[in-house]
Amino acid sequence: MWGPRLHLIPRVPILFQSCVASSDFGEGAHVAARYWLRVSAINSLLLSSASSSSVSWFVLASCTVVARASRAQQQPAASCTPRRVVHVEEEHRRSMLANGLGSAPPMGWNSWNHFACDGNGEDVIRETADALVSTELAAAGYKYVNIDDCWAGPERDAKGNLVANKKTFPNGIKALADYVHSKGLKLGIYSDAGSKTCAKVQPGSLGHEEQDAKTFASWGVDYLKYDNCNNGDLKPLERYPEMSKALMKAGRPIYFSLCEWGDMHPAKWGAAYGNSWRTTNDISDTWESMVSRADENEVWADYARPGGWNDPDMLEVGNGGMTNDEYIVHFSLWAISKAPLIIGCDVRHMSQQTYDILANKEVIAVNQDPLGVQGKKVRMEGSNEVWAGPLSGYRTAVVVLNRHAKDAAAITAHWDDIGLPAGTAVEARDLWQHKTVGGEFTDKITLDVAPHSCRMLVLKPLLSSRAN
Ligand code: GLA
Repeated sequence: MWGPRLHLIPRVPILFQSCVASSDFGEGAHVAARYWLRVSAINSLLLSSASSSSVSWFVLASCTVVARASRAQQQPAASCTPRRVVHVEEEHRRSMLANGLGSAPPMGWNSWNHFACDGNGEDVIRETADALVSTELAAAGYKYVNIDDCWAGPERDAKGNLVANKKTFPNGIKALADYVHSKGLKLGIYSDAGSKTCAKVQPGSLGHEEQDAKTFASWGVDYLKYDNCNNGDLKPLERYPEMSKALMKAGRPIYFSLCEWGDMHPAKWGAAYGNSWRTTNDISDTWESMVSRADENEVWADYARPGGWNDPDMLEVGNGGMTNDEYIVHFSLWAISKAPLIIGCDVRHMSQQTYDILANKEVIAVNQDPLGVQGKKVRMEGSNEVWAGPLSGYRTAVVVLNRHAKDAAAITAHWDDIGLPAGTAVEARDLWQHKTVGGEFTDKITLDVAPHSCRMLVLKPLLSSRAN
């Protein structure tokens, strides 16, 4: 994931300044730089809590931003090689899971939320792969087709290997992986850091990590969701790193999704072992469950970054328990939170409304933005909320959310809350209406929001027109 790298300390402020000082910047670039620093402060990505690897990543991001600002202003390009590398960290720390995956939150589908154990089988998996391709959801980014619990037989074979359930997966997982790969997609599987999985119908991987990781790699598996049931009271940190090591040894890049439910605050340690970590208990298909998962996940925003994401659980969009507006809120919050976008409905038979949510390219682009900074709840007043987070190109993603069940509300996003400098003029793009909201906005924007609904915007500073 991050691999062996040189960590650059003492960190951002010095390197950033040396970067700024190394070329002749236009005013626009300085505005952008100030804006960026401010956004960074608000999101407190840095220093106090972030690991040195994310700090190194941030240094690169900062320089990229400034270089782009310089280009935008037609000034001489900035040399963004930091002039003064103050110190090379002696500890060339290698992430245990250096698999290079998860540079953006994963996108795909999983069997659990719709099918649970009963409907899980190879026909559903194959047909889902077909549907992802034919509906163009695959082209929109949904690449992983993930089998959840209840895919294996109740016992290991004579050699101790996991084997697919003969009734529901009669052709085995390797054949399924080959099929999914032939469609240009990737296959995910599920196991558990305990003696049995949560449904208790198949063995878990505790004590069999290397053997199971090898099996998964030999089948061509691309993603492992690793659950937390029946764990014999052993702490997660005694169990999850074992599978990380085993996956590394197995030699195939396998996205590692820690499903530890947030019990032991995995945001604090998950990045060393996995590509994402669940921060919550299981979601269900209700408004209350959905917003509470978003809230619990939001607390850990500072820990998310490319290669390691907070995971508030899979999507319920299209499963029927919420209104269309509520599902739009669900998708918007997951997108701005840089959550994995793992579809949990039956994509073979989804409605047009469901499709229009899941396939919204503008919202997906916020989730997949290369800056990889999780948005936060920046203002809350009763049931009115403003969520915001920085995007590449000095843009800002904003969700204004009305949590009231009956009353509409006019909700204002103030620049002061979302991290834009006072006086910044922006253009506002509405990502659900697919149009630019009329005019130029300075210092705030106010939007009417229906009950249990949201509006989602991308704000783009009008830097160049101001400079001209
Ligand atoms: C746990 C997980 C769920 C699902 C089930 C399967 O509850 O959190 O996402 O995988 O197990 O049994």
